[in-house]
Amino acid sequence: MKWRARAAPSRAKERANISFFIFIMFFAVFGVIVLTELLLLERPNVPGSARSRYSENLQGWEGRTETGGGENGEPPPPAHAPLDAVWQPVAGTRFRFYVYSAYVERRTVAAVRIIAATKTRGADSVMCRMWLPDNRTLTLKARVKAIRENWNLKYSATYVLCLLRDSGVKPQETVGASISVVASTSPSRPPTNLLTVLDTEPKSGIEETLHVCVKPFHYLYARDEWLVEWFELNRQLGASHFYMYNESLSPSVACLLDDYRKQGLVTLLQWKLPIVSKVEIRTEGQFAAFNDCLYRSMSSAGWLLVIDVDEVVLPRRERTLPALLMALRASYDPPSKAPSAFLFRNAFFYLRWEDDAEAPAPLVTARKTRRWATPHALKNRSKYALRPRDAVELGNHFVWELAPGASSAGVPTDRALLHHYRIACEFGGMNCLTVPSTIDRTSHRWAEELQQRVNAERKRLTNVCPS
Ligand SMILES: *[C@@H]1O[C@H](CO)[C@@H](O)[C@H](O)[C@H]1NC(C)=O
Ligand SMILES: *[C@@H]1O[C@H](CO)[C@@H](O)[C@H](O)[C@H]1NC(C)=O
Ligand SMILES: *[C@@H]1O[C@H](CO)[C@@H](O)[C@H](O)[C@H]1NC(C)=O
Repeated sequence: MKWRARAAPSRAKERANISFFIFIMFFAVFGVIVLTELLLLERPNVPGSARSRYSENLQGWEGRTETGGGENGEPPPPAHAPLDAVWQPVAGTRFRFYVYSAYVERRTVAAVRIIAATKTRGADSVMCRMWLPDNRTLTLKARVKAIRENWNLKYSATYVLCLLRDSGVKPQETVGASISVVASTSPSRPPTNLLTVLDTEPKSGIEETLHVCVKPFHYLYARDEWLVEWFELNRQLGASHFYMYNESLSPSVACLLDDYRKQGLVTLLQWKLPIVSKVEIRTEGQFAAFNDCLYRSMSSAGWLLVIDVDEVVLPRRERTLPALLMALRASYDPPSKAPSAFLFRNAFFYLRWEDDAEAPAPLVTARKTRRWATPHALKNRSKYALRPRDAVELGNHFVWELAPGASSAGVPTDRALLHHYRIACEFGGMNCLTVPSTIDRTSHRWAEELQQRVNAERKRLTNVCPS
């Protein structure tokens, strides 16, 4: 019969299969034994030793898996104590992935918002592991979202939103927690990054406080003479704190900023992002810096001014920027309709243009009063001031995303202007010097007092930073 003829070779095959199976089983069992040995050596299951290991790495916090969250066993301990404002790698991703800082997000979604940098499109999928101050350990789903202003380069400043939905944890409870971003493909790998979750809840009584954000310094930024004038003018205008990012600084500027840092005037954050600026990511990953500054200032700044060190915003009527901003807001009826962000139009003041013969002091801002007759249109080189609590995502020249219900508005040029002091024309040559121009002496309103402040500061600094 046909079936018998077929059955005989099939039985022989079955016997071969069984021997093969036994052969494989032997190696599998052997492998499991070896692996168990290795894992036990690496992560002792003894409660006492596990505890000491955690408290060493987490500065006294013990990691513990929450009930139901332990399919992969106990999460491996973090590699080091939590850090803030240091670019740390996420291991096991296909594309480079770095994280910098972590903030509580209560407004758009209940989450921990992480400032990161990674592939603009097709970023690796990640998740978050969080160690709460009360010793609970959680694994959270994460959403990776490129920050919009990325110029279509390969890498981008990015948000990682560690979602608290379904975790039973409220945003407020994450303050002071340690959080780590891990690649979804290797969840059991020990974390290579660990961040401290910082609070963003605005403190009371900060309504008129003005802080300033500046993009990372690079190319050994060295204009310290001018920088003193810039700082003092902004302080006269009401700024009480500056957030600055150090990619590279000249020794004299480093000394100046370090002195201001010691006085509590500057928060100087280190900025060594291992992604090639301009080639792989937009200038120094500046959009990660702007947005880090937004969340970092949120609890203590009523207003945040985003400008560069060759720019100042000068009001036409008021003496200070908080006075201008409060007046602008007060002009809206009902007050709930008042914008949360105000955009200032840009006007170039070329340093190549002649000095003002009527300058009351030998300051750059007092001498250079010739500017473009027609300022740029809104969103074209404009800069802005905003209520940080009402913003979600900042760009260079305007706010990309405001919190639900918030709005932004342009400031009329008869109320304030962005004075942009440039050494040269944008694209080389001297052509720009022939654009229609006008004399604008708004800066003279502050010049005399500014000169005194600058003199006093320079005198003080000759002792602190002898050059
Ligand atoms: C967390 O764990 C540490 C170390 O075991 C312990 O001292 C501390 O009391 C715990 N904290 C809470 C809130 O349970
Ligand atoms: C600025 O960053 C450079 C490069 O990382 C570093 O060597 C230098 O010490 C930093 N300076 C200050 C004042 O933080
Ligand atoms: C920005 O303004 C300048 C000067 O008015 C103009 O030449 C340029 O085309 C504007 N750019 C955009 C993107 O509108």
